[in-house]
Amino acid sequence: MSEMTQTIAPEEAIPAAAQESQSLSAKEIIPRNIDFGFDETVHYDWLDGCPGRSNLLNAMSLLFPAGETFFIDSTRPFLKDVTDKKLKKEIKNFMTQEAIHTREHEAYNEMLERDGLPAKKIEAEVWRDLEMGKKVLNKYQQLGITVALEHWTAVLANGLLSNPEALDGAHPAMRSVWLWHAVEESEHKAVCFDLMRVAIKDKKEFEKARKRALRMVSVPFMARTFMYYTRLMYASGNLFNFKAHWSTMTYAWGKPGIFRKMWPEFKAFFKDDFHPWDFDNSEYIEKWDAEANSKDEAPEAFLIAAE
Ligand SMILES: [Fe+2]
Ligand SMILES: [Fe+2]
Repeated sequence: MSEMTQTIAPEEAIPAAAQESQSLSAKEIIPRNIDFGFDETVHYDWLDGCPGRSNLLNAMSLLFPAGETFFIDSTRPFLKDVTDKKLKKEIKNFMTQEAIHTREHEAYNEMLERDGLPAKKIEAEVWRDLEMGKKVLNKYQQLGITVALEHWTAVLANGLLSNPEALDGAHPAMRSVWLWHAVEESEHKAVCFDLMRVAIKDKKEFEKARKRALRMVSVPFMARTFMYYTRLMYASGNLFNFKAHWSTMTYAWGKPGIFRKMWPEFKAFFKDDFHPWDFDNSEYIEKWDAEANSKDEAPEAFLIAAE
């Protein structure tokens, strides 16, 4: 194993997919335990010094700690329904990946707080709202929300991985954290989807429920990202920085903006029989692993914390 990254080794080899496997994942899921060390050289405008583009991604980072903890929690009630060893292992490794993402994005968000942005306040609001969601939604609805938001993160991840210039000019630690997160989101993109197929046995019901969930979460997800982006721009003194807003707009919706580029994959979710691995982007995962595991090429940010 590389000195630069540490993987949490699977306890046992994943058996060859049985014909009746509950998992249709194309990749083994490997949690990579990396401490990105957001030191004093990292600031909120880490993406090429542009407050707009940086704050768009910062706004999403503020959603991650509570959001990804919600994802983990929503899968737990269904673990008992999983009989397939492969899917069981994937769920466990998905949980580990999301737990490490939560830890690293909390550290990322502390950097924003250090720079005077209201990161803790916003994070607390997301935690509060999702806790409320857990009280009013049943376990199937919660899993549906997770599947829908995992689709969002998967297409955003693919948007970053297939458009590497989107991170040109980024601080090395920030470039690394976003690519690492994108790689792992791609890797586990089908886990909750496959679990939902197990949880809702009737195929028609499953198809209806997952599509309904994506319709339900998409506008709130975009609205919340925009709202937090605006608050971050205000707090950093950039509310009237129209050049930065324009840069954000073209970054997201220009040619080839990351949102524009992800549109075909996003809407494919509404087709019957869709599966996340219909869009096979495993080449990016393999490429990242090859680079990250090379001691010579790995940026300093791949150094892991001693445990
Ligand atoms: Fe994640
Ligand atoms: Fe995820």
